[in-house]
Amino acid sequence: MDAIPFNRPYLTGNEIAYIGEAAANLHLSGNGPFTRRCAAWICERSGSAAALLTHSATGALEMAVALADIRPGDEVVMPSFTFVSTANAVVLRGGVPVFVDIRSDTLNLDETLVEDAVTARTKAIMPVHYAGVGCDMAALLDVGHRHSVAVIEDAAHGIMSTYDGRALGSYGALGALSFHETKNVMCGEGGALMINDASLIDRAEVVLEKGTNRKRFYRGQVDKYSWVDIGSSYVMSEINAAFLWAQLEHADVITSRRLQIWNAYDEAFRPLAEEGLLGCPVVPHRARHNAHMYYLILPETISRSKFLAQLLADGVHAVFHYVPLHSSSAGTRYGRTGSTLKVTEDVSERLVRLPLWVGMRESEVGRVIDSVLAAAGARATGVR
Ligand SMILES: Cc1ncc(COP(=O)(O)O)c(C=O)c1O
Repeated sequence: MDAIPFNRPYLTGNEIAYIGEAAANLHLSGNGPFTRRCAAWICERSGSAAALLTHSATGALEMAVALADIRPGDEVVMPSFTFVSTANAVVLRGGVPVFVDIRSDTLNLDETLVEDAVTARTKAIMPVHYAGVGCDMAALLDVGHRHSVAVIEDAAHGIMSTYDGRALGSYGALGALSFHETKNVMCGEGGALMINDASLIDRAEVVLEKGTNRKRFYRGQVDKYSWVDIGSSYVMSEINAAFLWAQLEHADVITSRRLQIWNAYDEAFRPLAEEGLLGCPVVPHRARHNAHMYYLILPETISRSKFLAQLLADGVHAVFHYVPLHSSSAGTRYGRTGSTLKVTEDVSERLVRLPLWVGMRESEVGRVIDSVLAAAGARATGVR
């Protein structure tokens, strides 16, 4: 029996043809026709004023922090339960990540704790839409508004997800998407900065292009380009944009196929959650998710390492998520805590992510379900 990997990148079939087209165009750096098509797609779907394709969500987050003018000593409130890039972007500019706990249902930043973590040094709030399930954006924007601090959304997991009908990443002044190979829509390494505050567009184009006004030069708005601000090389290559376009064209199909698998898992595991044997993802009624991830929260009575080993013995590759940033060595050096982090500490010890990728056969989904049920001590449902 073949092993079932945690992730297997899905190809729509048009990637190579579009890369060939980009090569034939002889435009392989950034800002070519495929880049423009992808950016227009993101704007159309999200309502963002502009979208700049970047080499990664990490790059988009770094750009966002630069655009929010975060300087040494400025604080940014964020979850500890996130990927390093959220916090590292702040630290690169001398800022201080202030780690706040997550909600026990969605595992998103607990909006009720954010206000208490805001100080005179707070410059931004960075919610992370974990697993593509939207944070309570109304509450977070309200705190941001009342304290005059920017909201920057880490929507790395969030392509095709909405909250109150609006795309994740389109609520804050800025949002970051990831197109890393492990994401629903991908191009190997890639990301995008969603710009919702139109006053930031001009400066964002400079930060994207190494701190130069090169974009204005290409548009014929200046007669030579030069160094005008801070920046770095965040641009996505046209080769990646061509690949990405093949994926974006299929984003609806990709999402619905992922949702089928997510729903199959949920149908199998929800009864166990109702009996209190496992925790399953919670999707608030205001959020529509993209099936980026299906996770379980194991009870204290089950050892996660034994559980993962048992799944692996069945050929099922499940993985954990995140090592909380406040307890990591860089996190203790560069950040501080802004609340107790009980949920973060608890969940990060017990969370297991299951294989979920387009192309998984029904029999493979069934094998994952049976393996989980057996490892959780529940009755296996028999041969599928
Ligand atoms: C919440 C979050 N933010 C940012 C990133 C970084 O994304 P990228 O690999 O595109 O830089 C990740 C990566 O998985 C992530 O999970």
